Amino acid sequence: MPSICQQPPLILRKVKIDPPLMVAPMANLTHSALRRLLADFGGYGALFTEMLSAKMILNENFTRSPWLKRRPQEGRVFYQLMTDDIVKLPEIVDRLAPLAPDGLDLNCACGAATIRRQGGGAALFEDVARMQRVVAVLRRAFEGPLTVKIRLGRRGEGWRDRLWERIQVLEGEGVDAVILHPRFMEDKFKRVAQYAVLGELAARMRVPLIGNGDISGAADLHARAASLKGVAGWMIGRHAVARPWICALGENPGTSVDEAEVARRFCAYLAEDFEPDKALRRLKVWMPYFARNYVFGHTLFAAIQSAPDWDVARSRLDVFCAARPERLESISVDGL
Ligand SMILES: Cc1cc2nc3c(=O)[nH]c(=O)nc-3n(C[C@H](O)[C@H](O)[C@H](O)COP(=O)(O)O)c2cc1C
Repeated sequence: MPSICQQPPLILRKVKIDPPLMVAPMANLTHSALRRLLADFGGYGALFTEMLSAKMILNENFTRSPWLKRRPQEGRVFYQLMTDDIVKLPEIVDRLAPLAPDGLDLNCACGAATIRRQGGGAALFEDVARMQRVVAVLRRAFEGPLTVKIRLGRRGEGWRDRLWERIQVLEGEGVDAVILHPRFMEDKFKRVAQYAVLGELAARMRVPLIGNGDISGAADLHARAASLKGVAGWMIGRHAVARPWICALGENPGTSVDEAEVARRFCAYLAEDFEPDKALRRLKVWMPYFARNYVFGHTLFAAIQSAPDWDVARSRLDVFCAARPERLESISVDGL
């Protein structure tokens, strides 16, 4: 199938990611219900779970957990770990084995205070020695593709050297690819992603580099693929949440999608995988993104955010969709 990402497949330890277009790990979003919806449309080479804590992996029921379980139609699924716990890591990897992860990814990117307090995400990236130990243990415990997701690190003099030092450590410990969202840790989603850095690094690195940040469709990818030839793959986040069909647009860019039907189907998937209160919470997390598809999406957003329970949220969604709301051709996820 032609892809919006016109690049050769990415092969990591014999695992083929084709096309080399991945959907990013996103907390409270890339659970089993959204992955199922993404799979209905396809067009990606791999999906990533949301970040999974050691505690979650060691205590969850694998067949029921919306964080862990996967359906065959999802295709390749990478499980993202958020941990700095070297002692428990081999047990965590063993526990995941029945799910046959196509790859493991270590989160060294998240700058949220709660994650950093646990020593994970960006805090792990800052502490090179600890990051090295975690990656070494993971590498010994897992034979499949191992990736690490990073940002640029902290802003400030010497950031390029610090970044390069860490990338060399990751390469030295045998990771199979690095995923870079080229913003500083403290920038969250502010300022523009520094795409030039991706090109510079890709030319120097020994392992494949996967680029991430602000991709909104084929036009972005084509423009970037031309100027950033060395970048081996791409990862798309918020736009895939707002438009779960986005990766599939390569086959037929003019495909018209019935957004209302997609939203109703997503609700059915949520209701299948989550208890009603949790399903409602996940619907509320998704809605700011999906509502961007409509000219008056803010009314849908407000109606869902204020819904006291699942049934009210569902009927408000139906009322909004029944009015045949005006859709937008292109959308922005700025501010989300
Ligand atoms: C709501 C939300 C949750 C996220 N959760 C994670 C996460 O669990 N792990 C991670 O590595 N990145 C996480 N990210 C960052 C994304 O993976 C991605 O790097 C970022 O959104 C930039 O890509 P985009 O511009 O295509 O959205 C999250 C982003 C958002 C918006």
